[in-house]
Parts: sequence; structure tokens; C-alpha cells
Amino acid sequence: MVAQQQSRVLVTGGAGYIGSHTCLELINSGYQPVVLDNLCNSSAESLRRVAALCGVDAVPFQQGDIRDGALLDRLFEQYPIRSVMHFAGLKAVGESVAQPLAYYDNNVGGTLSLVQAMQRHGVQRLIFSSSATVYGDPCTVPIREDFPRSATNPYGRSKLMIEDMLMDLHQAGPDWQLALLRYFNPVGAHPSGRIGEDPRGIPNNLMPYIARVAVGWYEQLSVFGNDFPTPDGTGVRDYIHVVDLAKGHVRALAAFEAGTVPNLLAVNLGTGQGYSVLDMVQAFGEACGRPIPYQMVGRRAGDVASCFADPALAQQLLGWRAELGLSAMCRDSWNWQYANPTGYDR
Ligand code: NAD
Ligand code: WQD
Repeated sequence: MVAQQQSRVLVTGGAGYIGSHTCLELINSGYQPVVLDNLCNSSAESLRRVAALCGVDAVPFQQGDIRDGALLDRLFEQYPIRSVMHFAGLKAVGESVAQPLAYYDNNVGGTLSLVQAMQRHGVQRLIFSSSATVYGDPCTVPIREDFPRSATNPYGRSKLMIEDMLMDLHQAGPDWQLALLRYFNPVGAHPSGRIGEDPRGIPNNLMPYIARVAVGWYEQLSVFGNDFPTPDGTGVRDYIHVVDLAKGHVRALAAFEAGTVPNLLAVNLGTGQGYSVLDMVQAFGEACGRPIPYQMVGRRAGDVASCFADPALAQQLLGWRAELGLSAMCRDSWNWQYANPTGYDR
């Protein structure tokens, strides 16, 4: 505990959706995060709220870009950083198809710049936000970590390239501790309703779109396809509460510190339970007390029928499993949206 309080965890992208929830769990577990974020998809207000929720003065925050090596050098010199949690990245699949170079530059180039800075400063522990997208179009479900990896779009390919880069790094230097945490579909918000997901523009993802329909921002949800080979014909996904996800990161960090897991760790963070789009519409309607209007439209290009995790490895290695179910995910998402109808009001 003393060592944890003395050292710092650099959290890139810590003002964003998953990063802000993880900062909160880090602080509540006795760690001291320092955040680097360029705010291209977030607001520093999230960190002010994290500090208030945790009863601390502030979360140390540097606005800037992970591709700025000189800035990284200054941060590593200023703070006794022992570990890095790396959330910073662009994540919109459609945008990545239109602007692939921006995604390779930001995600792959950004991670390279970060890892090079870590190497310069002798920091060898990294927890990276990978994604279930690295499984491409899986041939069966549930998905295990040893399934073949592939990409169906530039965003997914950027995650694959980063995973490959980190695996090569581990091959060359087995002392590096590198976690590739493959998230399934993060949803929900902190139960306080003070921090949550605040996408810019029209949400690409299902849950924030439903939440904005519920609050009256949009008229109805478009359900992308009802002819998939699933029980009700709509796409099935493994939705995971963001608080569970954040706790998984703290577990991975603690396991590296304790040396109880292999130095290269590729782990699914999901619940193992698949829900369809219509299941989500139904559950959200129950959480907010009124039905969510929707219309059926054609499939979205690139969508797979069904994607959910086998979460056994995370349980086995990290002693972690998701604890919050669908009703908590919808309740907390609704709490956040209702209390902050226009998000953080950037
Ligand atoms: P987010 O956009 O809310 O958070 C990402 C943060 O990184 C933002 O605050 C953004 O301002 C910052 N950022 C982006 N590029 C940066 C750069 N070059 N330098 C500094 N900061 C930068 O997204 P999120 O949902 O919290 O996702 C976090 C990570 O998890 C991402 O890497 C994403 O690819 C990955 N992921 C997300 C999901 C999901 O559905 N939300 C699923 C799987 C993986
Ligand atoms: C879920 C389901 C849609 C919106 C994406 C990325 C993935 C990962 C998580 C980062 C699907 C349906 C959606 C809408 C709908 N991100 N849907 N109407 O596609 O599983 O995953 O986010 O790594 O890489 O691809 O999530 O929330 O977009 O969609 O019917 O308006 O909801 O077709 O079945 P997805 P999603």
C-alpha cells in the first residue's frame, strides 16, 4: 500500500468514458493516477467530478497528446510513474474507414510514441485498451482469447497492429509487463450519475443512442437488421458495465505488481452473456419507465450477428468477473443521461 501511494499510474485518455471510471476505481483502491488527455473526445469536467466523488482535491491532469514525446518525457520526469494505463485513442469504426491514416497515426503512432517514452524512462508496465474487435467476424461464440485474430476495418486493424507491436516488444524484452485487455461492449455509468459516456455528435453505439432517445433528444432508434441468425433476428453483443470494466483494470495492475500473472497477458473483459438489440430496448424501457420507440432498418455494413466472450481466463488469472447485470447497466446509463441530458456541456 505504501508503494502504491508513493508511485503514480499514468492514465492516457483518462478524461474519457472508460478512463474516467478507471481513475475513480484506481483512487478508491489507493493508487494515484496522473492523466494525459488531449480532450479530443472528452472534457476535463469528468476529472473534476471524479475528484469530488473520491473526496480528493484534484486528479492531476496534463492536457496534451501522446504523440508528443517531449511532453511525455516531462511527465515521466515530473512524476514517479511506475505503470501506465493506456486508453487514449480514436474509436469510431465508420470514421476509421473514411480517415484510416488518422487512426493509424493516433492509435498506432500514439502507442509507439508512448511505449518509446516508457522505454526511455525505464517504465515497463502497460495496461492497454484492446477490443473484441480483434476477433473480427468470429466463427463461433463464446470467444476465447486463443481464437484467430483479424480486422474488418481500420479501427480494428489499429488495435491488431498495437497488439502485435506489444507482443513483439515482450518477445524482445520479457521483463515488460503488458496486458491486452479485450473489452466487449462497455455501457452504463457510475451509479452516482455524475460521470458517464458523453459522445460527441450522433452516437455510433447502441446504448448512448437509446439513452438519447429516452431523454427526447432523438425521436426513435433505428435497429440495424432483424434478419441475423439470432433468436430475435437482431444483433447479439456482450454488454459490460463500465464499473466492472474499470475494476478489471485495477485487478490487472495489482496482479502485475504481485507477479501472479504472466508478463504478457491477453484477456477478455466481458460478461459471457449475449443480449440482442431488442433485449436492450426492452431493458432500457423498463429502467426509464417508458417504452423506447424504434424502427427496423437494414443491416449496418460490417456488423456481425453475434459476439460474446468466454470470460473464464479473466476469472482464472485475475480473480475478476463482471458483477453488474443488464438492469444495473440500463439503470445507471439512464441515471447519467437524465441528470446530464446534454452531457458535460463542453
Ligand atoms: P473515449 O473517446 O471516451 O476516451 C478516449 C480518450 O482518449 C478521450 O478522452 C480522448 O480525448 C483521448 N485521446 C484520444 N487521442 C488522444 C491522443 N492522441 N492523445 C491524448 N489523448 C487522446 O473512449 P472510451 O470509450 O473511453 O475508450 C477508451 C479506449 O478503449 C480506446 O482506446 C478505445 O479504442 C478502447 N475501447 C473502447 C470500447 C468502447 O466501446 N467504448 C470498446 C473496446 C475498446
Ligand atoms: C451494438 C448492436 C448494432 C446502433 C462497436 C465496435 C467495437 C467496439 C464496441 C471499440 C449491433 C446495433 C447499434 C444503432 C443498432 N468498440 N445498433 N442501432 O458494433 O458491437 O461494437 O463498439 O472497440 O469495435 O465495432 O457496438 O453499440 O455500435 O452496436 O441497431 O443505432 O446494436 O447493429 O448489433 P458494436 P454498437
